[in-house]
Amino acid sequence: MSKTAKLDLGDKTIDLPVIEGTEGEMAVDISKLRAQTGYITYDNGLGNTGSCLSDITYIDGEKGILKHRGYTIENLAAKSTFLEVSHLVYAGNIPSKEECDALKSQIKENSKIPEGIKSIIKSFPKDAHPMGITSAAMVALSGFYPDLLDQDLTDDQKKKAFPLLMGQLKTIAAAVYRHGQGKDFIESNPKLDYTSDFLYMMNGEEPNEDVAKALDVLLVLHADHEQNCSASTVRVVGSSKANLFASISAGIDALWGPLHGGANQAVLEMLDAIKQDGGGYEKFIAKAKDKEDPFRLMGFGHRVYKNFDPRAKVIKDYCDVVLEKLDVQDPLLDIAKGLEQTALSDEYFAQRKLFPNVDFYSGIIYKALGIPTNMFTVMFALGRQPGWMAQWKEMIEAPGMRITRPRQVYTGKTDEEL
Ligand code: SDX
Repeated sequence: MSKTAKLDLGDKTIDLPVIEGTEGEMAVDISKLRAQTGYITYDNGLGNTGSCLSDITYIDGEKGILKHRGYTIENLAAKSTFLEVSHLVYAGNIPSKEECDALKSQIKENSKIPEGIKSIIKSFPKDAHPMGITSAAMVALSGFYPDLLDQDLTDDQKKKAFPLLMGQLKTIAAAVYRHGQGKDFIESNPKLDYTSDFLYMMNGEEPNEDVAKALDVLLVLHADHEQNCSASTVRVVGSSKANLFASISAGIDALWGPLHGGANQAVLEMLDAIKQDGGGYEKFIAKAKDKEDPFRLMGFGHRVYKNFDPRAKVIKDYCDVVLEKLDVQDPLLDIAKGLEQTALSDEYFAQRKLFPNVDFYSGIIYKALGIPTNMFTVMFALGRQPGWMAQWKEMIEAPGMRITRPRQVYTGKTDEEL
């Protein structure tokens, strides 16, 4: 039964179609609103606006539910690998053993970056932020894989693009780290799986399985997250028929911001500041609540989750496991747990439904794995790349795909004369 919504504009009332999602979400379709009424809608930050129809990821922010193609994130984190989840979000299915083996070998074949990309990475100052170098290297790949510049990629080209970018970004990320450390790059080790190979290219030694497993779980937890800021950026850039490299590079840039993926670095810096300040977090909570103070509790709050971010729960539990396995004592974990408890029992945070998000605890594990703070957001990008590619592919394949071009409400001067 098709549903409609009535919009009463005073001088007229119109019926607008209602779309129902497979998880029961309801949306008023305003595609014809301006043509029928001359009105547009206004939605600061687009928190109430659906930009697309998507089969990839579903989030219920009130219940703290995250699913990829119908599988809960808890189920995926416990039972699948990053490569399996990457295939799930991009291709739409948990890969068979044959599909997984094929993806592994294709990624291995694509884990060597062009010499020109190495030169671009080396051209940056050693203290340049890794996200800027990573974004530059990603868009520079367009100069080395010209057959993938056309957005109207064939199905074979889309199949080729996935392992290519998975392999290239893994090696770029490791090379960017080595550059920052003033060390030579290490070539991919074809004997190792995706996550172990990344760690090998970072440190030059095969990681123990606990370390590799911990990183793999973190990458799974970051794989996709529906229309977040960076995924929306990938879609907007791709909607102009810009190529995949340009679209993913733009996603990396959007992720860099401290309100988005950059928060994982900002959380560690905040926890460190609390530690340096004697470990008392009450002062920081007071700053976060002070309207006059721009400081925010990093790793807290979310546009969609008004309950616990399910990823934060998995990571928090995993922190204890990883630190114990690695025999790492990190006072920042105790500070984080105390900060969380105090914030969650404070009316300011409870009233605004501000809970820890994916970034609140992830840095504790990255740090325990020996990854430096300024690489945390690159790790987020490594995890999110399959999601960005899945969103890009879904967008270019969508029937009636159009360039994204929102309207505005003009509030400037009128009728000026020189
Ligand atoms: C990610 O979208 C995604 O899915 C993103 C992500 C993904 O996987 O792609 O989940 C990854 O980006 C997680 C979020 C990481 N960012 C941070 O941790 C930065 C700190 N958080 C905030 O800046 C904020 O919570 C946002 C940016 C995450 C969400 O901002 P919104 O939805 O625009 O919320 P808002 O600014 O309208 O806040 C509502 C109220 C305000 O107070 P009032 O004006 O109502 O009095 O809550 C307050 C805000 O001041 N508030 C906070 C706060 N977050 C919101 N106050 C103190 N500390 C905070 N962290």
